[in-house]
Amino acid sequence: MKTGLKGKHLLCEQDWSNEELETLFKVAEELKMKYALGEDAEYCRLKTLFMLFFEESTRTRNAFECGITQLGGHGNYLTPKATQIDHGETPKDTIEVLSRMGHGIGVRNTLVGGHKWMAELAKHSKIPVYNMQCDIWHPTQSLADLFTIKEKFNNDLKGKKFVISWTSAGNYMRPLSMAQSLVTLMPRFGLDVTLAHPKGFELQPDVMEMARENARKNGSKFEVVYDMDEACKDADVVYAKGWGPIMTVGDDEVAGVKMINENPGWLVDSRRMKLAKESAIYMHCMPADRGIEVTDEVYDGPQSVIYDEAENRMHTIKALMALTMGNMTGRR
Ligand code: CP
Repeated sequence: MKTGLKGKHLLCEQDWSNEELETLFKVAEELKMKYALGEDAEYCRLKTLFMLFFEESTRTRNAFECGITQLGGHGNYLTPKATQIDHGETPKDTIEVLSRMGHGIGVRNTLVGGHKWMAELAKHSKIPVYNMQCDIWHPTQSLADLFTIKEKFNNDLKGKKFVISWTSAGNYMRPLSMAQSLVTLMPRFGLDVTLAHPKGFELQPDVMEMARENARKNGSKFEVVYDMDEACKDADVVYAKGWGPIMTVGDDEVAGVKMINENPGWLVDSRRMKLAKESAIYMHCMPADRGIEVTDEVYDGPQSVIYDEAENRMHTIKALMALTMGNMTGRR
């Protein structure tokens, strides 16, 4: 088990080795049990976590904020407007100051360039920086997803078919980050990944290369298909959510939404779940567009694990904070 993770950033799953992530999952399991038993777990007593959100959030904010409270610390909610970032204060100056006051910082910035912004912050930070979702990655979500899959399949992941499919969610352009985190993380832990999307909705080429390389190194499979039925066939996990055709149109919202709406019918319904294995689970990071990405029957149905998945955000994030900003010994 790899420990000694104090001060380590999490900007991307790839920054952490498999061994380090297994440590995180073990700690998350322990913290989840303590939570169920109502036991204290004050590994971050009197620590302050800054939570800087450029965009809105339900799960990520509350997983971090409830998590740091339960660990005995305090979460400080910040936005660009609530700080001098909106007036142009640089990431360097912001973090130089916050590093002298608190013990960790999470940032959500999904705009194009969001990852670059937080990488610059991390470069100057004396405290761990957590990516709460950017334009490229969403690591705290994918880690909770993997933790949930490990729970549901009793850690037996080798050769299981994991499908990440695009959906026709056309009200706005969502970032690529969720799909990119999943295709790169899951093959590292034995899952065979099938990525499905219409032509024009490709992920970043460097991320695709990383996914292929991760599959190769870990003896897993990685394939791309352009048909949702084909993807769902014999799946163990059906994970479906939309993203914009950013590799095709950049940040042109009007052109992107038009392209999404030219590809209707990519949703998970009970017919598609029947193509998957009988034991298959349905996953979504939430929020989903009900009736557009998924039918109510599936979303609220017996194969859906969405609420466990959302709860696991908190347990895995608590493990992340305890390991990287905790008291080390756990002493009070
Ligand atoms: N899945 C997820 O990141 O949800 P929020 O946008 O509500 O944080």
